[in-house]
Amino acid sequence: MTDTTPIHVDATNADQLKAWDGGEGDYWAANADLYDASIDRYHHALLALAAIAPADAVLDIGCGTGQTTRDAARLASSGTALGIDLSSSMLDVARSRAESEGVHNATFVQSDAQIHPFEPGSFDVALSRTGSMFFGNRAEAHVNIARALRPGGRLAIGVWQPMSENEWFTSFVGALSAGRPLPAPPPEAPSPFAMSEPDLVGPLLESSGFEDVEFGELRAPMFFGETAEQAQDFILGQLGWLVADLNTSDRRAAVAELLRSMQDHETTDGVVFSSAMWLITAQRGDR
Ligand SMILES: C[S@@+](CC[C@H](N)C(=O)[O-])C[C@H]1O[C@@H](n2cnc3c(N)ncnc32)[C@H](O)[C@@H]1O
Repeated sequence: MTDTTPIHVDATNADQLKAWDGGEGDYWAANADLYDASIDRYHHALLALAAIAPADAVLDIGCGTGQTTRDAARLASSGTALGIDLSSSMLDVARSRAESEGVHNATFVQSDAQIHPFEPGSFDVALSRTGSMFFGNRAEAHVNIARALRPGGRLAIGVWQPMSENEWFTSFVGALSAGRPLPAPPPEAPSPFAMSEPDLVGPLLESSGFEDVEFGELRAPMFFGETAEQAQDFILGQLGWLVADLNTSDRRAAVAELLRSMQDHETTDGVVFSSAMWLITAQRGDR
């Protein structure tokens, strides 16, 4: 049975715990395959950059439903992979899939990676697929991750480029905002775009104990469903709250606009929007 006692997190991550160990995490857990499919092109590129060797100990930060952890564990065939995440329901999916896929060297922990007491120097590789931009205190979190790596250990993280480069986000939020200004969280607040500015993230990683920080650019189509209707449902499940305060006719118009946008992006490969990530690599320095 799942333990439902709330975990201890840093005070700066209390809101993230509420979201990810609540409705947001439950929705990801219920739609794990679609989320994995949407980001498939980035998944393979990130794993290639992580250059996982058979004996490596790998840490997957914000592992969610654990596809990256399981694939990292397969690459670390005589090593291990540990996935850490805030969401108990996403971790339930991660654990049951590891079990059913026979991946026995992957383990999972529900904890706040910003403050988790990792054994210092115990990992060869730390990776994260869109899991490192939600920390309330990104500097503290990356110091903690650097400390968990051995000197010379590798960091490989995938983070979204700015909102303006991600058509999927501007289209969905644009439709559901119904003419209101797009929500723009302050750059220091946790959000999908909190690691999108290399001028801020490079120095952040260097001052956290990393060196040789490099930003690789990858632009890739993202898949949201086989049909416009499926894609519309998938996105309304995540962003429906944006229209909750509209009157009925404005809400209907916004939802119809979202469907139109999905229809405009229907291809023979399903509903596809353009997107862009930074694939960031670095090494833990000797400090
Ligand atoms: C956008 S999801 C990505 C999940 C997964 N990496 C993937 O690609 O499917 C972000 C994940 O980061 C996790 N997360 C956010 N803040 C965290 C923290 N402080 N410690 C550990 N995990 C965190 C969330 O619970 C969520 O599962």
